Amino acid sequence: MAERTLLVTGGAGFIGSNFVHYITNHTDDRVIVLDKLTYAGSRDNLTGLPEDRVELVEGDIADADTVGRLAARLDSERDAIVHYAAESHNDNSLQDPSPFLDTNILGTYTLLEAARQHDLRFHHISTDEVYGDLELDDPEKFTPTTPYNPSSPYSATKAGSDLLVRAWVRSFGVRATISNCSNNYGPRQHIEKFIPRQITNLIDGIRPRLYGAGLNVRDWIHADDHSSAVLTILDKGDIGETYLIGADGEKNNLEVIRMILRLMGRDEDDFDHVPDRAGHDLRYAIDASRLRDELGWTPQFADFEQGLKDTITWYRENEDWWRGAKAATEAKYARTGQ
Ligand code: NAD
Ligand code: DAU
Repeated sequence: MAERTLLVTGGAGFIGSNFVHYITNHTDDRVIVLDKLTYAGSRDNLTGLPEDRVELVEGDIADADTVGRLAARLDSERDAIVHYAAESHNDNSLQDPSPFLDTNILGTYTLLEAARQHDLRFHHISTDEVYGDLELDDPEKFTPTTPYNPSSPYSATKAGSDLLVRAWVRSFGVRATISNCSNNYGPRQHIEKFIPRQITNLIDGIRPRLYGAGLNVRDWIHADDHSSAVLTILDKGDIGETYLIGADGEKNNLEVIRMILRLMGRDEDDFDHVPDRAGHDLRYAIDASRLRDELGWTPQFADFEQGLKDTITWYRENEDWWRGAKAATEAKYARTGQ
């Protein structure tokens, strides 16, 4: 049988491009990336990949013609759509929710219709934020049966997209799985996000910015572990099921900012508190036991501090990659005093 082809939406963004690199390194699959190349996507993220196996199509997942044309190239017995494309940043969704509705809701709907029409396997990438947040002392973590309770326009549109997938499975028999992952870190993450923002601030001599008191907890996972989990679900997951992806990496923002400062040779108190994010979720925590026990997945990046060190090194060595976006990103934050 010929190698599988994966249509990877958002494959020029942070986690999507990591998945494309992962796939080319660990399988013989071919990849078609469909990406609109918004401010968050870049051709550079796919540099160095084998041209005979990776094709980039610039286009919008909400454009039914483009999506239909690409879906028609896939084989329903062998190939799959892996859907990463999204507007992904909470702070942006608080300033202007409209692109979040277009891409996360209408875009997902458009892809699901193509999957239905062409009878294609579909994997939907989602977030733990659909479940809302947990108290700091709550002994429970998120599980696949935790009720949906999103807080921000971003997480509400991701929750809506998950529910569309579930409806297309039940009503139309689309062969879909869903994964909800916790906060990713690693190379090629846009510098609007917490960890790369602070690293690049420090490179530029700007003090890191902590929202509020910084007690909010995120459950950090390396992007490579997210990719291996998605490949595992694609190969072995049960149709219609939801899998939570996480690597037991809970840390509060204060701990992370102090760790970055220390690893970059600075005093651990050398940061500023700035106004908190509206509706800021307190804590996320993932119970990934279904993925571990039923599908046999295990994360490889257990040492967060080492992963953070490597990430700092990547941003130091790849200033060309982020420099062009730095001034505009900080100007955007300056408007909210953050
Ligand atoms: P990102 O913002 O870095 O990349 C998003 C990519 O999607 C970009 O390449 C962008 O150009 C593309 N895109 C946006 N709108 C599009 C459209 N209409 N049509 C085609 N392409 C479009 O995002 P990310 O952090 O890599 O997140 C990827 C996915 O993973 C998202 O679905 C997000 O919800 C999910 N996720 C992210 C995290 C995280 O920590 N970043 C955690 C869990 C889940
Ligand atoms: O949980 C998964 C989610 O993780 C994904 O669905 C989102 O796409 C992804 O952006 C991420 O959302 P967060 O809002 O948790 O990530 P962000 O990097 O924006 O912020 C992480 C934490 O750091 C959060 O508590 C807010 C705080 N923060 C963020 C920035 C940018 C700061 O304290 N200072 C900052 O400058």
